[in-house]
Amino acid sequence: MSEAREILRLAVRLARAAGRIQRERYETAIQIGTKTAPIDLVTEVDHACEQLIVDTLARERPGDAVLAEEGRGGDSGRATWRWVIDPLDGTVNYAHGYPRFCVSIGVEQRDERAVGVVYDPLLDELYSAVRGAGATRNGRRIRVSDETEIGRSLLATGFSYDVRGSAQDNLDHFARMVKSARAVRRDGSAALDLCYVASGRLDGYWELKLHPWDVAAGFLIVEEAGGRVSDLRGGPPQRSGRETVATNGRIHDALLSRLSKSG
Ligand code: IPD
Ligand code: CA
Ligand code: CA
Repeated sequence: MSEAREILRLAVRLARAAGRIQRERYETAIQIGTKTAPIDLVTEVDHACEQLIVDTLARERPGDAVLAEEGRGGDSGRATWRWVIDPLDGTVNYAHGYPRFCVSIGVEQRDERAVGVVYDPLLDELYSAVRGAGATRNGRRIRVSDETEIGRSLLATGFSYDVRGSAQDNLDHFARMVKSARAVRRDGSAALDLCYVASGRLDGYWELKLHPWDVAAGFLIVEEAGGRVSDLRGGPPQRSGRETVATNGRIHDALLSRLSKSG
């Protein structure tokens, strides 16, 4: 078995294990704190999931680098493989009992996206991709949609936790797209939004000021499902997640031009 396939197996095992924790503690009394802003939450479940994933990686893949949202990662500097982990994407949803959240695990080989796994524990939907081998949901190949018209497209977006105080708040883009698309959703999990583009449930998605752990798995899953990912000007996708546009490819340029001021 190739090393990427072995890593996929481990990533799937870890995503399912973290997803089990999320399912078991869903709608129970959990501790909730804040991070960068009063609306930026972190729960004991974010920490428990991250601990489980990072501890297992330390045992089973001690030479690999790890970037994990809540800070448990470590980087030897010379690692070939780098795990980029969002232990619970959709924390605000989780804290409110709103049933849309997931675990996201992306793995890069020498800075290239190699493996991506996103697991929604309530729907028991596991999305995965290996570079060059396509993308799947629960083992079945997924493809982006065929839609060519923005006016018939279902889109999604999101807003960063500095939305109350920042001028770059995505609200002008949102207003413009509400008037252009069939509908625009804001459902609170960037990693699942990307997987929904990959599987054709959404035709496109954009967001500003995401982080590497939000997009590390989802970018590869969209690409391997035949979609396109870029920054706001159509340039290469940003691993930082600062500018993210992901579509079925067919509506990509139209979405970019509408998102730009002149569009
Ligand atoms: C957030 C979610 C949300 C997006 C935010 C992210 P978190 O991640 O993905 O959909 O709009 O920008 O920060 O905090 O739940 O892991
Ligand atoms: Ca996230
Ligand atoms: Ca998170």
